[in-house]
Amino acid sequence: MKKQKIEIPLEVFETVLELPKDIQELMNKAQQARENAYAPYSHFRVGAAVKLASGKIVVGNNQENAAFPSGLCAERVAIFSVGANFPDETITALAITVRAENRTVAEAIAPCGACRQSLAEYEQKQKSPIAVYFMGETGNIIKVGSINDLLPLGFHAKYL
Ligand code: THU
Repeated sequence: MKKQKIEIPLEVFETVLELPKDIQELMNKAQQARENAYAPYSHFRVGAAVKLASGKIVVGNNQENAAFPSGLCAERVAIFSVGANFPDETITALAITVRAENRTVAEAIAPCGACRQSLAEYEQKQKSPIAVYFMGETGNIIKVGSINDLLPLGFHAKYL
């Protein structure tokens, strides 16, 4: 038996102003999208903005449903929209932000497991990493250079 460790490189930014200018703009789009979330059940709004190599930005937000599992997270709304509308474009970055109605979310909120799996698919499809920046409503922003860093030991299309 051998013990092994997986290390995940993270970058932590104290404020949005520390981010590169284009990522500030991307986070700003995610914040705007967050406010259009349809979250009447959780009152937890999530906004996501995807940047394409061409410079285009595609946004998504969480879309809930009275039949709870029928809703969808912001990240998947955004990435599926890219898949549907710009299937041949390379995705370079994703920004995510949340706002809850009953508290100020000051910790960086990472995407859920199902979203990580869906996002990983696009990284594998395009064969280049997607940087992910995530934050709460306020507080630190965490960056990972690749979805792979958020989903080590994930299930991969190459296994099929
Ligand atoms: N949600 C997202 O949009 N992204 C995530 O990564 C986790 C959760 C949404 C789903 C639901 O509408 C609300 O947040 C509470 O779970």
